[in-house]
Amino acid sequence: MERPVVRPRRLRRTPALRAMVAETSVAASQLVLPVFVAEGADAPRPISSMPGVVQHSRDSLRAAAVEAAELGLGGIMLFGLPAAKDAVGSGATDPQGVLTVAVRDVVAEVGDALPVMADLCLDEFTDHGHCGVLAADGGVDNDATLEVYAEMARVLADAGVDVVGPSGMMDGQVAVIRDALDGAGHTATTILAYSAKYASAFYGPFREAVDSSLSGDRRAYQQDPGNGREGVREALLDVAEGADMVMVKPALAYLDVLRRVRDAVDVPVAAYNISGEYAMVEAAAAHGWIDREPAILETLTSIRRAGADVVLTYWAAEAARLLAR
Ligand code: PBG
Repeated sequence: MERPVVRPRRLRRTPALRAMVAETSVAASQLVLPVFVAEGADAPRPISSMPGVVQHSRDSLRAAAVEAAELGLGGIMLFGLPAAKDAVGSGATDPQGVLTVAVRDVVAEVGDALPVMADLCLDEFTDHGHCGVLAADGGVDNDATLEVYAEMARVLADAGVDVVGPSGMMDGQVAVIRDALDGAGHTATTILAYSAKYASAFYGPFREAVDSSLSGDRRAYQQDPGNGREGVREALLDVAEGADMVMVKPALAYLDVLRRVRDAVDVPVAAYNISGEYAMVEAAAAHGWIDREPAILETLTSIRRAGADVVLTYWAAEAARLLAR
């Protein structure tokens, strides 16, 4: 019998050999923790479709931010749930609104030890659940929404946010936000653009997390899941408009888009391991159908391998602890 000369197994024999040749690493500093804070909550409230994730009170949010800083996470991404929603998302631009207050709270708590990021979008604040203000025909009015985003960016930057994450998929949003920030003297405020953001069924649990019921769908502004080339185009446009970082979202069903975007731009690329991806692993693990901790680490490793410099994940704190053992 002919013996194999080339034996890839040689490099897999011991944990030390495997560690030496590992191509992909996951570090706490590359993980960003998305968190929800509910206006008026006096205690954290569980989110049933996202076991282990809560809608924070102001106090529990501060504690989570301190823990995130202590774990050496890459950042914290804040989502605000206003007590009342309306057609134009007034809470988003209110200097006393839930998100703005949360930014001030967290910045006061962690200072420069942890980058503080805020989702810049209206869907948490509108009663119809769309990412912008509506035109007479019921569609989302791109340019009217841009004006609101500009104001929201200024309010968040005044509150001390390090990074704004425009996620509404309005055309021209990065340029308008950059201009608004610079015009208000916030030249150091960073833009992490949700560039290639798809109209995904995997956002389901997020709706519960932010108490949002969507009328209709988002396909007139979020991308068609079949369009990879268009994801690269969106990322290039955002870089040209001044995005400091770009993002692909969701992550797992779009790892090819992530790779293509990584190869096409020179700015850091993030990927959002979203609510539905989290829920699938948690649900299967709860049934004993998959081994939870290895599944979490494999998920994060695959997103890094596909090209993400930064991963937004609801497992960020737990993963940092797992990686430290
Ligand atoms: C928009 C936004 C969404 C998510 C993050 N930012 C919802 C959407 O666009 O429909 C989803 C995150 C997740 O599902 O974990 N504000």
